[in-house]
Amino acid sequence: MAKVKQQAEKPSGQHSPSADRAQPMSAKVKVIPSGSEFFVGPHETLLEAGLRAGLHLTYHCANGTCGGCKARVVAGELGDVGFHDYRIPASEKAQGYTLMCRARAATDLVIEAAEASGVADVPLQELTAKVVKLERLMDDLMVVHLRTPRSKTLRFLAGQYVTLEIDGLPPRDKSIASCPCSGRLLQVHFRRRKGDPFPKYVFSRLRTSKKVLVTGPFGEFTLDEASKRPMVLLAYETGFASVKSLIEHAIALELEQPLHLYWVVEKPGGHYMENYCRAWVDGLDSFHYTPLHLRDGKGSLGKRTAKALRPLWTDHPDLSGVDLYMSIPVGAEHPLHEELLRHGLPEGRLRMELLEKY
Ligand code: FES
Repeated sequence: MAKVKQQAEKPSGQHSPSADRAQPMSAKVKVIPSGSEFFVGPHETLLEAGLRAGLHLTYHCANGTCGGCKARVVAGELGDVGFHDYRIPASEKAQGYTLMCRARAATDLVIEAAEASGVADVPLQELTAKVVKLERLMDDLMVVHLRTPRSKTLRFLAGQYVTLEIDGLPPRDKSIASCPCSGRLLQVHFRRRKGDPFPKYVFSRLRTSKKVLVTGPFGEFTLDEASKRPMVLLAYETGFASVKSLIEHAIALELEQPLHLYWVVEKPGGHYMENYCRAWVDGLDSFHYTPLHLRDGKGSLGKRTAKALRPLWTDHPDLSGVDLYMSIPVGAEHPLHEELLRHGLPEGRLRMELLEKY
């Protein structure tokens, strides 16, 4: 799926001819023991490049103060290693240890580094982020962009959520809509709904520069990265947020299997990031997108959603060979789950996020 239609050159960034002589355009880094590989440009650190490639490298501050991204160079040569407050003990230096958030590559490298293999390896964190942009995509839809302090990024896996606290309002869980490749920039989506004070605050009083307490990450709605099966993703309203994060992560990993996104909204025209979906269709091989909306009618939300998803049942009459990810409202899961099983989805191939508010 995530193969770019015209394979982009590996990142290189802006650089001078003299820098070209000193360092390669990009170097290949192999991480052991996982065997993961990524390319690093001459002007980016090993950590930046590894996260961009979708790896779950272990780190904390990302600015050279904590030592949390320590890795051992097993083969190859490092380029510049930027200033860092954290002092690597001399005995470790002699063994080749460096800080991935500060080190660049001069040649292809093999490094020994810790990687998270699942949600249990990602610690609970608390930090204060700043609102850097409020993007009103529709009358009732706001995208909030947060930036963490330079010294404290948020480590999370694609598809997870955080709890937000602002100005004494009841805390609100929100799925992270951005990619873990930049833990400093977080995106969350709010749909304004009657009687819900948090979005009301976001639409009427929230301003850029406002501080927001962020706690997390939480949740197990993450990608099965080892699977080669086609992926079907189903999002309801702002359930698109976590699904977007999963898709961006799949793109970073260059997963090759087909991916089909079905996005259900309550009103026609409510697909507030339609441009993203169309860009994925245009830019990626085997990416399919079907926008859908609920029809008026009787029945529970789950039954009406299952009805709106008729194209999914037609496109995939047999779901026995796919992985299915769905982010839907609490209470809608039973009719949908039944329908999925009826179409052959094996138990255990469903990853689900249930939304209290959407
Ligand atoms: S992540 Fe803290 S020193 Fe690199």
